[in-house]
Amino acid sequence: MCGIVGYIGEQQVTPLLIQGLKRLEYRGYDSAGVAVLQNGSIQVRKEAGKIKELEDLLEKEPVEGVYGIGHTRWATHGPPTDRNAHPHVSENGDIAVVHNGIIENADVLRKRLQERGHSFSSDTDTEVLVHLIEEVYDSGEGRSRESLERAVEAALQQVEGTYGIAVVSTRDPNKIVVARLGSPLLIGVADHNETFVASDAAAVIAHTRDVVYLDDGDMATITREGYTVHRTTQGPVKREVSRVDWDLGEVERGGYPHFMLKEITEQPNTLRETMRGRLLEEEGNVQLGGLIGMDEELKRTERIIILGCGTSWHSGLIGEYMLEDMARIPTDVEYASEFRYRRPVVEPNTLTISISQSGETADTLHAMREAKQQGATTLGIVNTVGSTIPRETDAGVYLHAGAEIGVASTKAFTSQVVVLAMMTVHLGRLRGTLSESRGREIVRALRQLPEQVAEILKREEEIKKLAEVYKDSRNALYLGRGYNFPAALEGALKLKEISYIHAEGYPAAEMKHGPIALIDKEMPVVVIAPRDSVYDKIRSNVEEVKARGGAVLGVVSEGDTELDQHLDHAIRIPRTHEALSPILASVPLQLFAYHIAVLRGCNVDQPRNLAKSVTVE
Ligand code: G6P
Repeated sequence: MCGIVGYIGEQQVTPLLIQGLKRLEYRGYDSAGVAVLQNGSIQVRKEAGKIKELEDLLEKEPVEGVYGIGHTRWATHGPPTDRNAHPHVSENGDIAVVHNGIIENADVLRKRLQERGHSFSSDTDTEVLVHLIEEVYDSGEGRSRESLERAVEAALQQVEGTYGIAVVSTRDPNKIVVARLGSPLLIGVADHNETFVASDAAAVIAHTRDVVYLDDGDMATITREGYTVHRTTQGPVKREVSRVDWDLGEVERGGYPHFMLKEITEQPNTLRETMRGRLLEEEGNVQLGGLIGMDEELKRTERIIILGCGTSWHSGLIGEYMLEDMARIPTDVEYASEFRYRRPVVEPNTLTISISQSGETADTLHAMREAKQQGATTLGIVNTVGSTIPRETDAGVYLHAGAEIGVASTKAFTSQVVVLAMMTVHLGRLRGTLSESRGREIVRALRQLPEQVAEILKREEEIKKLAEVYKDSRNALYLGRGYNFPAALEGALKLKEISYIHAEGYPAAEMKHGPIALIDKEMPVVVIAPRDSVYDKIRSNVEEVKARGGAVLGVVSEGDTELDQHLDHAIRIPRTHEALSPILASVPLQLFAYHIAVLRGCNVDQPRNLAKSVTVE
């Protein structure tokens, strides 16, 4: 949510900032801007709209310099206008700031600053920070060496909320000062007299894979020669350099019209990566390096709480079914945002599993911290290596699905479900609730998934034709039972978030308690009905829909024609273990949503109002 990039070195900074911002655009795309130090003054160019608009502006009004900061915004305070775009500059023009996060006491601070004579030129919470920094300078504190650091630190002491910031000033040139509290920031370390800062490795990967992830409460000074990290209240600290394990290809579209299609298509491979080295087929078991040393805690576990938001919450629901079915551990799935604020009861021997593609979602992070504080053991299922959630959980399993850029999550979802299946096998075998032969069945089914997903992808043209049929719908209902109820929720979410068609997912039997009233020939109903233990039940639900004139699109098992008489259209998926069927059901529904959105002319990778990584509450 919002992206920051900064550079100090010997190259022209503007193209580097623009390139970095483009790689971050998936995090926010309301407006964008840069501040560049040119001949001793700060030059700002900023513009509402996509990075392209900023590029056009820079062509008309170029700036030159060898260091500066840039930002792409997802509006929180104030609409996405030119004046609210970052960077924000002090009244005398000699300090510029970019900020991710939310200053919660901005209104109070703004009022006080106005009383002291400051005048504001935007509606943002961020601008408060610039005025505060300026005030510290003007009070004389900023006259000593390292003055910018001191001014930033003193300003930050007055704010409540979250921030990742980057600050430059003409009064203390040749450095960028950055600070982090609750909003990710990393330093890109390069060899030749240049250093980067960014909110996300995607912005620096073209130049370096060596990054230093900052912790909450860290402040750092970045110069051409390198960087120093300080705690805001103490002296210097050492932070390790990590190596980013994915490459540039993953943050580029590689010939695909959209990241979303690229990521859907990548799934045979991403699923393979998620399982690589982890399946023990003969033993009917798995080995998860991230859980080594956790056996005692896992044996003791009496209750599991899964925490997540959005698509990650949906995969958690599938995990609940798996964990109760095969590991026999009582499991609840919680919206992280609700869990953290409702004084949850966390009993002894509770295990939490936080699921997050980005590893940065604010609600999931805070819910995990709340559970940890109450004594829970914390595991993470995360895609982004080095992000905040895995750094704070006791243990966890990475997805290794590679960078996911499309705002609508696809490959991360299927990999999350695979990790949950592997965790279930691990727990079930460890606790003796899953026999070797049942374990083997699941592991075999897992191994077949990549090929089966590849089979489904071959039917893209067929799915595109169905998208033509349903593209003008105004509403849609997705139904599933058992393991495929969460797949119905996820299918509906995909459709609504990228095509703006209103869609609801429902447990098929619950339909009779309300949504059935909506069914008429205008209302397509997508029914996920593979041959599984609830097949007969869902067949009755399909008949109920059909009897009311609804158009039914069925996602059914290959070779199963029993439902055909009630279906207007069918998408066939290979047969698999029941617990894994939501993975195979989801892939065609991702393609279905994708093609509908494209046919409706929607911006698939950057749907309106959404952001990839929601780092504010
Ligand atoms: C946003 C994204 C969703 C994602 C959710 C949770 O809403 O648009 O695609 O599922 O956040 O994100 P996380 O990174 O925690 O999985």
